Amino acid sequence: MLVSAKEMLQKAKAGHYAVGQFNINNLEWTKAILLTAEECKSPVILGVSEGAGKYMAGYKTVVGMVNGMLEELKITVPVALHLDHGSYEGCMKCIEAGFSSIMFDGSHFPIEENVAKTKELVAIVNEKGMSLEAEVGAIGGEEDGVVGKGECADPEECKRIADLGIDFLAAGIGNIHGKYPENWEGLSFETLDAIQKLTGDMPLVLHGGTGIPADMIKKAISLGVAKINVNTECQLSFAAATRKYVEEGKDLEGKGFDPRKLLKPGAEAIMATVKEKMELFGSVGKA
Ligand code: 13P
Repeated sequence: MLVSAKEMLQKAKAGHYAVGQFNINNLEWTKAILLTAEECKSPVILGVSEGAGKYMAGYKTVVGMVNGMLEELKITVPVALHLDHGSYEGCMKCIEAGFSSIMFDGSHFPIEENVAKTKELVAIVNEKGMSLEAEVGAIGGEEDGVVGKGECADPEECKRIADLGIDFLAAGIGNIHGKYPENWEGLSFETLDAIQKLTGDMPLVLHGGTGIPADMIKKAISLGVAKINVNTECQLSFAAATRKYVEEGKDLEGKGFDPRKLLKPGAEAIMATVKEKMELFGSVGKA
């Protein structure tokens, strides 16, 4: 059964490790991530962007697929199904479809509007026993065609949003979605430290988990990050493994063109990436 991400992230914050949010794009990705979480005895959050939800034929299809897999694959670790960077309308649709967690990304609104909309969602989500992530300070890079520059959130604004009763908070600390540019300045640990001092026990979320050096990940966890989002790194490993299979002509040998065979190396590559991240984040054995 799907669970809210609240408890797993409170435990992670108290235990000084982070739970990975791995975004899903299709059945193969979902199965690969769930099987790895089970093997690693790690809690896990499946992230779904609005674009990926549309691609997978809608949120209800995603809920049906994930619930079916939890049962048929006999998954025992805690799993949350979470909307990633949701609009207000997207959040409402996922609440109705049966997600167990949502992110409302109001970071592009003026703070008053972000506060007002987040507050409305807190009331709805609390009643349903779901968890809610809010965002302050835009996270840079490209997400579903929207390109932003890495910002540092204002710690006072973070406190205002945190005090609304949300469950975890994404705050921009110079992080970027996708590959980091050569001249990236790194994470702003001063900002993270100031945010954690004002928000106390609130689990903090680090978006753009792809390509952040391991030492920075560890330092971010030591400063209150309890959830780390990864998407691009799984895309890169999936694409590389699929390309290798095709370039080696395996799709032309025997029944190599069978989609179950063609997509297998990519799925195995995702399993390896997810395992590596769970080890780095310290969530192995924490389920
Ligand atoms: P990456 O694509 O950089 O791994 O970021 C994922 C993310 O933050 C999703 O919200």
